Amino acid sequence: MKKNILILFLAFYCIKAFPQQTQLILKTEKDIVLNTDKFAMVLSIEENKDVNTIYLGKKLKDEKEYRKINGQYKQAHDYTNMYQSAYTASGTRNLLEPAISVEHADGNQALDLKYVDHKIEDKSPNQKHVVVTLKDQVYPFFVELHYLTNVKENVIEQWAVIKHQEKKAVKLVKYASANISVKGSDFYLRNYHGDWIAEMQPETQKLTHGIKTLDSKLGSRTNLFQTSYFALSIDNPIAENEGTVLLGGLDWSGNFRVDFEKDPQENVRIIAGINNYASHYSLAPNKEFVTPRFTFTLSTQGLGQGSRNLHEWARNSRLLDGNGERLTLLNNWESTYFDFDEKKISHLLENTKKLGVDLFLLDDGWFGNKYPRNADTSALGDWEVNKKKLPNGIFSIVKEAKKTGVEFGIWVEPEMVSPKSELYEKHPKWVVKQPARDEYYFRNQLVLDLSNPEVQDFIFNMMDKLFTDNPGLAYVKWDCNAVIYNAYSAYQKDQNNFYTDYTFGLYKVLERFRAKYPKVPMMLCSGGGGRVDYGSLKYFTEYWPSDNTDPYDRIFIQYENSLFFPAIASANHITTFGNQDIKFKVDVAGMGKMGFDLNLEELHDEELKFAQEAVKNYNLYKDIVWHGDLYRFANPRETNHASLGYVSKDKSKAVMFNYLTKYTHVSKTTNPIKWDGLDANKNYKITEINLYKSGSYLQNDLVLSGDFLMKVGINPILENNRRSVVLLLEEVK
Ligand code: GLA
Repeated sequence: MKKNILILFLAFYCIKAFPQQTQLILKTEKDIVLNTDKFAMVLSIEENKDVNTIYLGKKLKDEKEYRKINGQYKQAHDYTNMYQSAYTASGTRNLLEPAISVEHADGNQALDLKYVDHKIEDKSPNQKHVVVTLKDQVYPFFVELHYLTNVKENVIEQWAVIKHQEKKAVKLVKYASANISVKGSDFYLRNYHGDWIAEMQPETQKLTHGIKTLDSKLGSRTNLFQTSYFALSIDNPIAENEGTVLLGGLDWSGNFRVDFEKDPQENVRIIAGINNYASHYSLAPNKEFVTPRFTFTLSTQGLGQGSRNLHEWARNSRLLDGNGERLTLLNNWESTYFDFDEKKISHLLENTKKLGVDLFLLDDGWFGNKYPRNADTSALGDWEVNKKKLPNGIFSIVKEAKKTGVEFGIWVEPEMVSPKSELYEKHPKWVVKQPARDEYYFRNQLVLDLSNPEVQDFIFNMMDKLFTDNPGLAYVKWDCNAVIYNAYSAYQKDQNNFYTDYTFGLYKVLERFRAKYPKVPMMLCSGGGGRVDYGSLKYFTEYWPSDNTDPYDRIFIQYENSLFFPAIASANHITTFGNQDIKFKVDVAGMGKMGFDLNLEELHDEELKFAQEAVKNYNLYKDIVWHGDLYRFANPRETNHASLGYVSKDKSKAVMFNYLTKYTHVSKTTNPIKWDGLDANKNYKITEINLYKSGSYLQNDLVLSGDFLMKVGINPILENNRRSVVLLLEEVK
């Protein structure tokens, strides 16, 4: 009996003292605090050399207090001390979604990354570059975690550099850029789906346990169905001006994958990187693999501040010529399609001048002789000017444009090849296709293998020739219409490297092009908004949000893009799409970089006069839209109108765009719309511009204080016969 009691006691003691699942309680050795102006991300180095993210939130006054954070959480066990790993390695202790998985040269799949050291470098008074080096305990395998803090913009760029000294290549089975752990009571994710002419459709959901993944496997034109850019609201549902929200995405134009894992401790782990789908990258010894950057901001004042942070960062340090000027233009795509000749172009140059815009952009159809580009079925890759349409070449048009007093730009689609082309006939091995299978086309075309350096040379040389043959060429629209089907590269030894090396190849070409032509403005187009990301925007001055130019749909697309990308980068064209009047179209295009794609002859006199006047008005306020701060006042998905304002940096000028987006017989703005971002102590004269047919409904010489505008607001008086209103606010002293 006594023996039995003893056994029971021992059993009870064992359960109490050594619970089946032990929780590691480790001391923090030191913290690495990544500070921006408003928020901090804190990494802790534990005594066993694990590196964890212990904090992401408002900055604490006393950095020493970050150590006390963990003690305040009484969450479930973390069996591994890895749930919050700053870069989760797999094959050893890990139980959750990894950031990195490998197959070592000897076939072993285990990795356990431990802290080695870290360095902090001041890149500028505004940027700190922190590098944390990790090493596996058994294999000579290293990962550097890179963090670039942009202090005043409150943006962190994060990436990894992977290398090893094993005897043979290591397979990177997964190789994320960032792995961030976020604590909160609830998490709300806004992500985007879409398709051609239906880009950036938002969906918002409360995250539940398990993994939600945003990804693309399309190879090129990778944002056709999804973008990697998202907003994650912490604790409360997403709001424009309140709450903590993380906005970010992967700066990468290839396949991406962003996982949101709500883990057993109720935290959310964000793991963002290149999609490892069909891409177990083979990395040779001593070669570095540099992942793309994951860029994010954390706003504690809702989406609005988050967007302004990203815009500011993009203009200051990512978007090409982000703080510069842009050219307004007339494009011929929707007015001529492939059907043009020198005479028509001369006329379009005249129209460009007549309209008052800066540049004429010649779109698709100017090339190919053996197989002329008269439809989208031939000639991609044959970048010789079509002699029948343009017997005197591009050069003569550039010259004529100068004579007319406008600039000239041109469309290219360098990554693509038509099956019916001389390029395909000469270089079938340059084409991405399965050797033993039927070809499958997207818009009647195939993709060139940019992972092949010969193809990179071909594209660079083609672009270079275009500029050396035609000095004075002032603008390029770089298109990319097809996705990758039948992924196979005749060049690659290991097909696993193809998708990733394709995008690296694209960047190599763009890098070379920009080294030689650093300034020329270039539009990033991909059958509409199929490629909009900060990896490529480093080389481009603007992007094309969608082939859908119906201004009603554009309000919604532009609104969602504005969460991440600044207005100066948004190319907005006025076309024949949509049955709204010219004023509505012009007003929508005003929220970005304005362009026209119209046949002026089809406009009535009154419409033409209005358009000419609107270009002049645009020249008055474009600086505010391009270089000012954006405030979103009304979301068309939540009410019957959209309303947005841009404020100049010195708050002396602002412009407000208002659109009625729900048409019922009685639709109108019943209440004033409250402003934000103005100076409460300034008085503003309010003028309605872009008036068409009817006059303004606003009181003459209206002056309101910033205080009034921000506390009471202003009613633009939208109603059914007045569906868009643009107001200019100018300080009066
Ligand atoms: C794509 C672009 C359009 C136009 C055509 C030309 O669809 O998005 O703007 O340039 O190609 O073929």
